[in-house]
Amino acid sequence: MCNNCLYLFTLLNRIKMKKTLLVTGGAGFIGSHVVRLFVNKYTEYTIVNLDNLTYAGNLENLIDIQGRSNYIFEKGDIVDKNFVNSLFAKYKFDGVIHLAAESHVDRSITNPLEFVKTNVLGTINLLESARNSWADKFSEKLFYHISTDEVYGSLGAEGLFLETTSYDPQSPYSASKASSDHFVRSYGNTYGLPFVISNCSNNYGPNQFPEKLIPLFIHNIKQSNDLPVYGDGKFTRDWLYVIDHAIAIDLIFHKGRKQETYNIGGFNEWQNIDLINELCDQMDKALGNSPKTSKELISFVKDRPGHDKRYAIDASKIHTELGWSPSVKFEEGLEKTISWYLENDHWLENVTSGEYQKYYEKQYR
Ligand code: NAD
Ligand code: TYD
Repeated sequence: MCNNCLYLFTLLNRIKMKKTLLVTGGAGFIGSHVVRLFVNKYTEYTIVNLDNLTYAGNLENLIDIQGRSNYIFEKGDIVDKNFVNSLFAKYKFDGVIHLAAESHVDRSITNPLEFVKTNVLGTINLLESARNSWADKFSEKLFYHISTDEVYGSLGAEGLFLETTSYDPQSPYSASKASSDHFVRSYGNTYGLPFVISNCSNNYGPNQFPEKLIPLFIHNIKQSNDLPVYGDGKFTRDWLYVIDHAIAIDLIFHKGRKQETYNIGGFNEWQNIDLINELCDQMDKALGNSPKTSKELISFVKDRPGHDKRYAIDASKIHTELGWSPSVKFEEGLEKTISWYLENDHWLENVTSGEYQKYYEKQYR
């Protein structure tokens, strides 16, 4: 190939590689890790982060990439149809990675309507904008919806959730996520919208809002506050380090088969009380406490209504088709998470003031 042809070929390829992606909920826990991964790895893409900055959204999570030429933040509400339409018109997105949601089961028990608004209506608004603005160009586009294993309901002592497991959501949170999953599939079926859905197990790691089990308990141990264990503590969750989830999302977005679902999990089941004991041991070590100091803070409290007994994911499909498996072992991930929270006092103080204080009082006192 002559030099000029090679130059033209490379230029054309670069233009082809350019994409503008909408990531919703990018200021939240998982979203911020996804945005960082994509901004750093795909410098030829423009990543537009749409987030309403609710109590769970925090731009401090992305301070290291703020100001990058391929990153744009847009503050706005996915429930606002006109705003979502205007954003699609402005940026002409090639793809959407949709993470924005109300995500905490306990809050969904107190305020289910908020979950319907954001998780169901918000998702439909995005689907509508995608359908209208992508009309006739579907083949080059992708709507990637991030969901949860909680849509499958609760397992007994045996068995794993497969992609084909029937939906059986038990909390207002999981019901709203299940509903949004159904709408995404219905847009694929009815209008031919190209989509992919992934359902992931419980994530943990840096930047998680301290209302979820692991960051809440790290925070409480730091403050010598009680560790409120729901019921008998014998509920089981499958835990995955958040960066492994972000890596899976990248793989599915680029290599997953369209109109498919992928389960993502850590092959890492823990009963809550065993996990809490491990966390207490690691915290005592990290803080230089004498052994068992943190365990003395454990306090069994009234159970969560409708508490799902066990979640466990079979992640064979993503492993076989896309070669993904978790890279971080749980004990190592927990150690990294604890170090991050202990080194980022400032982040924790900022997010635990205001709204969170009110929530905590209402939930536990
Ligand atoms: P999060 O609560 O930390 O973040 C949610 C983000 O969405 C926040 O930044 C918030 O400001 C934003 N948001 C909320 N309502 C919005 C609205 N109306 N308009 C625009 N932005 C809005 O949640 P997360 O834990 O990072 O979860 C992200 C996604 O992953 C969710 O869809 C959740 O269902 C799913 N998921 C989470 C887990 C988990 O363990 N955390 C596991 C599986 C799936
Ligand atoms: P959580 O982090 O809220 O995630 P999810 O409910 O989506 O699985 O809770 C994880 C587990 O820990 C769940 O079984 C509920 C339990 N839990 C407690 O025992 N005490 C708490 O204060 C919290 C927040 C959770």
